[in-house]
Amino acid sequence: MTMKYIEHGAGGDADCMTLAEGPTPQAGPGQILIEVVCAGINRPDVLQRSGRYPPPPDASPVLGLEVAGRVAAVGAGVTEWTVGTGVTALTPGGGYAEYCVAAASHALPIPVGMDFATAAALPETWFTVWANLVDLGRLKRGERLLVHGGSSGIGLVAIQLAKHLGVECIVTVGNEEKAAFCRQAGAAHAINYRTADFADEVKTLTGGTGVDVILDMVGAPYLQRNLASLRRDGRLVYVAFLEGSKGEADLMPIMLKRLTVTGSTMRPRTPAEKTAIRDALAASIWPALARGELLPHLFARFPLAQVAEAHRLMESSRHIGKIVLEVGK
Ligand SMILES: NC(=O)c1ccc[n+]([C@@H]2O[C@H](COP(=O)([O-])OP(=O)(O)OC[C@H]3O[C@@H](n4cnc5c(N)ncnc54)[C@H](OP(=O)(O)O)[C@@H]3O)[C@@H](O)[C@H]2O)c1
Repeated sequence: MTMKYIEHGAGGDADCMTLAEGPTPQAGPGQILIEVVCAGINRPDVLQRSGRYPPPPDASPVLGLEVAGRVAAVGAGVTEWTVGTGVTALTPGGGYAEYCVAAASHALPIPVGMDFATAAALPETWFTVWANLVDLGRLKRGERLLVHGGSSGIGLVAIQLAKHLGVECIVTVGNEEKAAFCRQAGAAHAINYRTADFADEVKTLTGGTGVDVILDMVGAPYLQRNLASLRRDGRLVYVAFLEGSKGEADLMPIMLKRLTVTGSTMRPRTPAEKTAIRDALAASIWPALARGELLPHLFARFPLAQVAEAHRLMESSRHIGKIVLEVGK
């Protein structure tokens, strides 16, 4: 059996991606085969496509870290899903395709009343934000959070998680439209980093005390100001280094304020770690999604064949929230 998928060859700019035909993958033990209806696009896909983020050796070389669709087959030992069930899943790769394999224990049901496109936009950001803010960042009710890149797919989920946990959230964004959107999504304050210094603003907004946790995707240029913006016992959590990982900083605040500097990437985590995150999301977040209390923001949808346009939109950073590919019906 063959399927259509997006091939990106040796990598390059968005035009290196073409619609190709190849063998349909098969569900191995513990896996499910998903007939993909929609696939979410994430910034790591852009990095992988351009050759800067090679997939792990055992992962599909095809782009795509999250899908929503129907279970088409179950592998040996899988009891929790049956053929035909609607699921959304974190994948090790391979999402930009008509069929995609995922671990059965990395899939979640489509929240009641949610369409496939919206569901496809959930896994990568929710798995990542939960693992980094709740597990590593130890974020808890009553604390204050600063999120850089507030209007990104990751950032908007961080705002929602903060709202859900009872955490006050401050974000940084690159323009006023993004600032307004983040405030409406639940951020207490949105700082336009192009017109204000975020560290000065955080100091003013918190009465000089600072925030408990920072989620950063910018990197080295923000390190010193991030350390200054944390209160005692604060946690700085990295999910990316969009502006670079190398630089210089005075590390003294780490010792004086007992700060924790940490971070992680989702893809190389062990299957068991991803299952534990899936289970935590199923218990804490999926019921709230089903109740309509948390809602991902879909900025744009593109047919699979227009994947280059979708990537160009993401690279422009004009978007707010998620971009999704329509793969099947
Ligand atoms: N650690 C992990 O496991 C993990 C998993 C998924 C994603 N990520 C990372 O998390 C980040 C957000 O992912 P996403 O899919 O949510 O991305 P996204 O929606 O494309 O958002 C990225 C946003 O970051 C802001 N930004 C700040 N500095 C930037 C720069 N130098 N270049 C480009 N954008 C910049 C832009 O908004 P402004 O206009 O406000 O600047 C942009 O819209 C990415 O860096 C991604 O690689 C990490």
